[in-house]
Formats: sequence, structure tokens, C-alpha cells
Amino acid sequence: TSVALAFSGGLDTTVCVSLLQEEYGYDEVVGVTVDVGQPESEFEEAKQTADAHGLDIHVVDAKDEFADLCFDSVRANATYQGYPLGTALARPVIAQAILEVAQEQGCDALAHGCTGKGNDQLRFEAIWRSSDLEVVAPVREMGLTREWEKQYADEHDLPVQAGNDGVWSIDTNLWSRSIEGGQLEDPGYIPPEDIYEWTEAPTGETGTVEIEFENGYPVAVDGDAMDPADLIEHVNALAGQYGVGRTDMMEDRMLGLKVRENYEHPAATTLLTAHEGLEQLVLTKEERDFKEQIDQQWANKGYQGLIDAPFVKALEGFIAETQTRVTGTVTIKFDGGRARPVARESEFAVYSEEAASFNTKTVGGITQEDATGVAKYHGFQSRLANAAIENASKD
Ligand code: ARG
Ligand code: SIN
Repeated sequence: TSVALAFSGGLDTTVCVSLLQEEYGYDEVVGVTVDVGQPESEFEEAKQTADAHGLDIHVVDAKDEFADLCFDSVRANATYQGYPLGTALARPVIAQAILEVAQEQGCDALAHGCTGKGNDQLRFEAIWRSSDLEVVAPVREMGLTREWEKQYADEHDLPVQAGNDGVWSIDTNLWSRSIEGGQLEDPGYIPPEDIYEWTEAPTGETGTVEIEFENGYPVAVDGDAMDPADLIEHVNALAGQYGVGRTDMMEDRMLGLKVRENYEHPAATTLLTAHEGLEQLVLTKEERDFKEQIDQQWANKGYQGLIDAPFVKALEGFIAETQTRVTGTVTIKFDGGRARPVARESEFAVYSEEAASFNTKTVGGITQEDATGVAKYHGFQSRLANAAIENASKD
């Protein structure tokens, strides 16, 4: 019998390789590493760890597919409790790729190294349970702790990722880097600067970047057209220099647990901020108000790892209609670790400088005096109601 394991080379999945053989009795473990834009060094480490195990690993390239999904999340302004969705969006893509390898290889089961406390188990299994392959979760089923895993790895001479030594549990993809566990589990513990790899601590330095959008999708940076994956990597490097896109928060997980989470996501913050800046210019107020609710729903499904729900397609119908006008450019300023729009331009701008300016008299046949009647009526119903309340209280 054989099992396909979601393999990253990190502590959890490394320990799982042995356990699936020793404890679960699988003859063969097929390691699957899915490329969603992790740094090259992670693949090297995963390969070394796999070699040391005598484990055969399949690397599946899903980077472009994932980058496209990141850009769909930009059109939906998708954030969860204030941070851009990274891990959550990557999980369904990874799960699907592993399922396909498992089916090709004729595996009997699928395994992940997620704990029974987190979100990732739910996101993986939502995809996997559409097949009739068995689902195995050693960390959850054996009630493992990271301390136990470290000791087990030591005793069995299992290589554990260099550089980190299993101190933090890290998850990386194109869109975001998540750091959790260890001392970070204490909400009162101030993270050391070295948990960050993509962002410098903000200095006083500032910079600007121009992002061009077509139908709500970022297409060019400072005039250079780029593919989604390249564009994200480029902006990550750029904005990261200014310390843009750090999150240190208390997060409410799906199971109800509160956890302390740290993230870095320089490109995501920059692109989401620019996109919203452009929507402010081209969408009408009622579209913006309603889209906020649509966006919130999209982000919830994204967080749950249920991006394949028919509901999401329906939401995207509305989003797609609005995005036909989200074409133009936004200039973002990096300042004090923040990204903010400082200029925007679009042929679809609803804005009319002529109409809004204090310096013009008549626009579209409307003069300032025409507002007098509107001003007389404004609040009329409230005045009537308040008068009635006052009268009634006199009796
Ligand atoms: N809690 C975050 C989420 O649900 C990130 C989890 C990332 N996993 C990790 N081992 N660092 O999206
Ligand atoms: C885990 O618990 O395996 C990682 C964190 C999460 O899934 O939320």
C-alpha cells in the first residue's frame, strides 16, 4: 500500500514520513512538494531531507495557477481580520495537485502533517474528501506536539530544516509568509527581528511605485508589463525594502481558537492598497458599498479554503462586472512601513474635476444655487419626527 504525503521538508512532514511507514504500515510514501512560489532554498532543503530519507519526491509546479488566484483575491480586496490571505489560498491549490499525483501513482491514501488545532487540516481535507482515497493525519491522530517531534527527529537522526531548526512553524508562498509557534505563542512576547525574511525594519526612507491595472488585475509595474508571478515577486522585493506588509495579530481560527500570528506580505499589501485606490475612483458609491459585502463573503470562503464553492462563482459574477472599469494606474508611496495611494488615473474615473471644483460656476446646467432646494429638504423627515416626539411628551 502507498500514501501520498504533502511534503515540505519541515519538521511536521519530515516526522510524518517515518510515522507513515513505522506506525501506519504503508510500504511506500510518495512525497509531493507543490511549488506555490516558496523560495528556492525551501526546495533544496526538501530535496535534501527527502534524499536522507530515501524518499522519492514529486515537485509539482503550481506557481502560475496560484499567482492567478492571488490576483482574483486582489479583485475581491480579500483580507481576513486585516491581513491578506496567503496560506488559505494556497492550500486548495496544493491539495488538488497532491490528489492528482496520488491518483496517477495509484496511491491508496493521502496524508498531511497538519495539527488538529489549525485551519490547514480543514482546507486540505475539503479537497481530498471529494475522492475516495483514505485521508491520514498522523500529527492529529497521534496527538503529537512539536517537542515530541523534535525529540523523535533527533532520536531517528531525521534531518530537520536548517536555518530554523524547527523553532518557528513557517509557511511560505508567493503571496505571504507566515511565522508561528515557539515563543510567538505568548501574545506578550515581542518577536525578534529575525523572524522576518522579506521585510526590512522600516527606516525613514520613502519610495514610490506605479501599478497599472486592467480589469482589476495588476499588469505592469513602473511601466513594465509582467506576468502575475513575476509581478508579485518584483513588488515583494521592492516594498519589502521599506518594511511594508508586516502583520502581528491575534487571529480567530475556524475551530474557535485564538492564536498569535505573524505575517509578511509586502506585494499583497501594495497591490491590494493600489486596487482599492483605483476602485475609489471608478466605482459608484452604491457599487462600492455593495461590493464591500461581496468582498467580505469572498474572503470568508477564501479563508475557509472553499474557493471552489459555487457561491464563490456567483460572487465573482458581480465582481467581474464591476472590474470591467477597474483599469488605470495608481501610484503608491512607501512611507514608515506603510503603503498608501498618492495618485490615481483612469479613463473610467467617475470623478469630474470640473463638477467638484470650488472654482467653476455651472456644470451640466447645474449651478450652486440649485442646491438650495435640496438643502431645505435635507433632514426634513427627522425634523418632523422630532417635533412629533416633543409634542407627545408635552401631553
Ligand atoms: N493561521 C494562518 C492561516 O490559517 C496561517 C497558518 C500557516 N501555517 C503555518 N504552519 N505557519 O492562514
Ligand atoms: C497547523 O495547525 O497545522 C498549522 C496552522 C493552521 O493550520 O492554522
